[in-house]
Amino acid sequence: MAKAVVRIGLVALGLVWGAFAAQAAQADEVKRYVVEGSQAAERSACVEPTERMRRMHMEFIQHQRIATVHEGIRDTQYSLTGCVDCHISYDANRNPRPINQPDQFCGACHRYAAVDLNCFDCHASVPNRPAADAEAAHRAAGVTGAPHGGGH
Ligand code: HEC
Ligand code: HEC
Ligand code: HEC
Repeated sequence: MAKAVVRIGLVALGLVWGAFAAQAAQADEVKRYVVEGSQAAERSACVEPTERMRRMHMEFIQHQRIATVHEGIRDTQYSLTGCVDCHISYDANRNPRPINQPDQFCGACHRYAAVDLNCFDCHASVPNRPAADAEAAHRAAGVTGAPHGGGH
């Protein structure tokens, strides 16, 4: 008898848990902001687990800023330059699209979240390494490195 009660209790708990898990899975289907043609679109992970990045990136960047500006530490995984390099995409002319544009990675989500940043008044919103740029643009455009048709 007591055993049966326990069993029923466990089944009920199982049902509640199942419903909860289903709901959690649904809530997990959020809009994704990684843009097509970016390096990020070809990778499976950000510099931290995605969920953590969504909630914490401002703090990581803020830390990085302090480390760089006050302690001279550069090039860690949270550098703003790094975010731009990996999350940038390119237009048909292979020019990088400024990452803070309202249809680009940082810009789109911030517009949705009504976050207004002044960071890109000073910081480059496009990669500032021409070589890496060209390479990424070529990759995005599916160019293999063969010279363009040399007609006369
Ligand atoms: C080397 C590549 C790379 C770098 C550098 C990088 N990311 Fe990412 N980021 C990714 C990838 C790949 C994903 C998607 C991961 C996934 O699908 O779960 C992502 C996802 C994200 C997301 C979640 C996007 C969404 O749709 O919810 C945020 C926010 C984010 N990155 C911010 C940043 C910031 C801020 C920086 C710099 C501090 C940064 N990333 C640096 C590759 C990168
Ligand atoms: C008035 C100009 C200005 C504004 C606005 C500004 N920064 Fe900076 N930031 C700088 C300068 C200058 C440096 C030092 C550059 C260096 O030494 O590499 C710097 C360095 C940084 C660094 C470390 C270098 C790197 O690439 O990771 C981060 C991170 C950073 N800033 C984040 C931000 C964020 C986030 C915002 C917006 C909330 C912001 N900054 C707004 C001028 C600015
Ligand atoms: C998936 C959505 C999303 C993406 C993508 C995203 N952000 Fe954010 N970001 C937010 C939200 C939401 C906030 C506001 C959080 C808050 O107010 O607590 C925010 C806040 C910030 C802040 C702090 C602003 C402040 O005034 O304190 C910085 C800096 C920032 N984001 C940088 C970036 C950069 C750089 C990128 C692109 C590399 C980026 N974010 C991409 C959602 C996103």
